[in-house]
Amino acid sequence: MAFVSDKEANEENELILSLPKEMGLFAAPYLNLFQDFWCPSLYVQGVINFQKHFDAKDNDVFVASFPKSGTTWLKALAFVIVNHHRFSSFDHHPLLSSNPHQLVSGLEFFLSHDLPDQILSLSNMSEPRVLATHVPLPSLPESITKSNCKIIYICRNPFDTFVSTWEFFTKVSSRALTFEEAFEKYCNGITVFGPWWSHMLGYWKESIDRPNKVLFLKYEDLKEDTVFHVKRIAEFLDSPITREGVSNTVIENIIKLCRFETMKDLEVNKSGYINNIIEKKHFFRKGEIGDWINYFSPSMIEKLSKIIEEKLGDSGLSFKVHSEIPLQHATS
Ligand code: A3P
Repeated sequence: MAFVSDKEANEENELILSLPKEMGLFAAPYLNLFQDFWCPSLYVQGVINFQKHFDAKDNDVFVASFPKSGTTWLKALAFVIVNHHRFSSFDHHPLLSSNPHQLVSGLEFFLSHDLPDQILSLSNMSEPRVLATHVPLPSLPESITKSNCKIIYICRNPFDTFVSTWEFFTKVSSRALTFEEAFEKYCNGITVFGPWWSHMLGYWKESIDRPNKVLFLKYEDLKEDTVFHVKRIAEFLDSPITREGVSNTVIENIIKLCRFETMKDLEVNKSGYINNIIEKKHFFRKGEIGDWINYFSPSMIEKLSKIIEEKLGDSGLSFKVHSEIPLQHATS
């Protein structure tokens, strides 16, 4: 029996064709406004498949993120922590021979093609499964929100996120807009999986309402006190590595294995592609807080600061935007 009937497939096609379409920051991918977020056109079908056909298991672990906020890093950390019982040797770890995006699949991408085979391979994965998504919280499949699976979310200050996005897509896509034009789009929320403010706030509020379900992380915090936050992740996942008797060396080794410099220097991350599209090396650029200062004009700083203030308001969500200087009205 076909996984999706012809009638259903036609309805989905019609729906996709009817969606508002915009050019994002770059010539490709185009973005469709789907369920109030800007989804890369190539992946709208993947999001629909994810919503309709994915069944979460209670012991699943999800890495959720806004793009260019530290997804690669968090995928690596979550994979190592969750699979520590299987791969306790740091000298022969899968992360030394595979990129984190090969070990932890983003489901809206994974399910955008060969649906029956992909669903089968997901059901055959060893448990607990570590999976990923950029989909905003309100659009996650019901089975994720209703089951006992856990979500670790990461985002990053909007200044560095924009620069990281700009640099990334400049390398992997043909450029269509100037930095200033792309910035205008970003300020209007028109960016992959944007608006960024509603993406962050959705997970932020859920992490407050359901702290056992969603752990909310910021790139800057993870960077500045990695030991503390990696322990938080391990505790949130109820990992045996945090229990008494397990030495701090394990945590230190995990951090060493996943740190920017280690991963960037691995042969496996220097060449080759993810999904035949993106060169692996582009996932590792500078890995710093505050690089945006080298790109923004004073008027851009003022404009984005105002938007942060307006959008995040009194939500309690704030960011450190520089390794030394916190943004006055947007920091804790
Ligand atoms: P920069 O472009 O500022 O260098 P994502 O993984 O969500 O695509 O985010 C990419 C950003 O995370 C890039 O930031 C990249 O350099 C940084 N990054 C990748 N791996 C990292 C790691 N192991 N530790 C810290 N930062 C990392």
